[in-house]
Amino acid sequence: MHELLIQGGIPLRGTVKVKGSKNASLPIIAASLLTSEPVIIEDVPDLLDVRDMLAVIKSLGSEVQYNAIDEIIHISTHSLEPLEPSRHKVQKMRASFLVLGPLLARFGQASISLPGGCAIGSRPVDLHLKGLTAMGVKFTVSGGLIEGKTNRLQGARIYLDYPSVGATENIMMAGTLARGTTVIENAASEPEIVDLAGFLNSMGARISGAGTKTIRIEGVKELGDTRYAVIPDRIEAGTLLLCAAVTGGDVTVTNVLPDHLRPLLAKLRETGISAEEVDYSAIRVIGSSKTRGVDLKTLPYPGFPTDLQPQFMVLLALSNGTSLVTETVFENRFMHVDGLRRMNANIQIEGNRAVIQGSSKLSGAPVKASDLRAAAALVLAGLAAEGTTVISSVDYLWRGYSCFEERLRKLGARLERFYPENREQVEA
Ligand code: UD1
Repeated sequence: MHELLIQGGIPLRGTVKVKGSKNASLPIIAASLLTSEPVIIEDVPDLLDVRDMLAVIKSLGSEVQYNAIDEIIHISTHSLEPLEPSRHKVQKMRASFLVLGPLLARFGQASISLPGGCAIGSRPVDLHLKGLTAMGVKFTVSGGLIEGKTNRLQGARIYLDYPSVGATENIMMAGTLARGTTVIENAASEPEIVDLAGFLNSMGARISGAGTKTIRIEGVKELGDTRYAVIPDRIEAGTLLLCAAVTGGDVTVTNVLPDHLRPLLAKLRETGISAEEVDYSAIRVIGSSKTRGVDLKTLPYPGFPTDLQPQFMVLLALSNGTSLVTETVFENRFMHVDGLRRMNANIQIEGNRAVIQGSSKLSGAPVKASDLRAAAALVLAGLAAEGTTVISSVDYLWRGYSCFEERLRKLGARLERFYPENREQVEA
């Protein structure tokens, strides 16, 4: 694993372009399995998660050509087989479970290991399985492998107890080739769901209501070829805007859809930060040394995104007064707090709530990243802190941010990626 050394305290300035959305790209790559015709996907960022998802569909027999410089993928699945996708990759990345719906739709059978080795019926994939079971799939589980079989998927009315993004996507993909109509109630309404529906409709699917609580999918016999560009990444955009906010900088982020960032922009303004929509696809943030603490609760879209909670907490740690952050989407999503505390942030955790006593300073320290967004939060903290921060296990960052250090460097940041054995050379 690499480490990242950051010399903090430099206000970031300039313009940076947001890349395509990771969380839209991953389900769209999985959805390419629904057709035997060629699929071209544009604006797919070069990320570890994207590489892993491509490895998953290759392990099923897909032919994949990824031009990482132009960010275009060509996929052909004419020789696809209902094999078990690479167990190693599936256990590494939860999103790979999204091939389940497409495989069941195309072959009526699928075997896949449970992501992260979780037990059946426990939280992580119960809603996916409940929905697909309602569509006529019989599941059996043994040795961590789940097998699903159906003669042909049947449309069904499915109420999700929780608007899970992944479950909505798996059921929506399965529904495209099912007999009859599938209705998902209490569906997730994230922009990435709308993008997946757009992709599927461009292949000939008949989906309406994506982006609302009720999605209707009329099954069709087959899907055709397509060329489709994914939406900009709202979480990357938010992370870059927060880089400007925490360093007291002035950054314009382009290739954004401001409507996807409403909760973040509202909260930024509440702290006293200037967040101006320059035009329909650019946002300028000007940091301030006099921000106020605010309370925040993560919620499914259009609520405040859990994927920006760790990064926003850095701003709260630097703001005057007390802030309360309530995490309702994921358990254990305060893994970044330990690192922030080492950097002198005053944060107490009580269950799913974090109480932050703001102060105007963070100090550089050696810290360790524990997951993708925790890594992003530590980068923000390192950029804002006085002195030097070294983040170990930083490779999580490349799961979701492409060319991140290069792009931050262009905004004036001083940071260097290195292997631990080369630390002395970098620090010299
Ligand atoms: C997606 C995003 C992730 C984001 C999350 C919430 C991708 C690739 N990842 O993850 O970045 O943080 O949405 O916005 O798009 N749950 C169940 N049962 C299920 C499924 C989920 O209880 O069957 C629970 C999960 O444990 C979690 C919550 O629901 O606590 C949200 O999960 P979900 O919306 O499914 O997120 P993902 O699709 O995994």
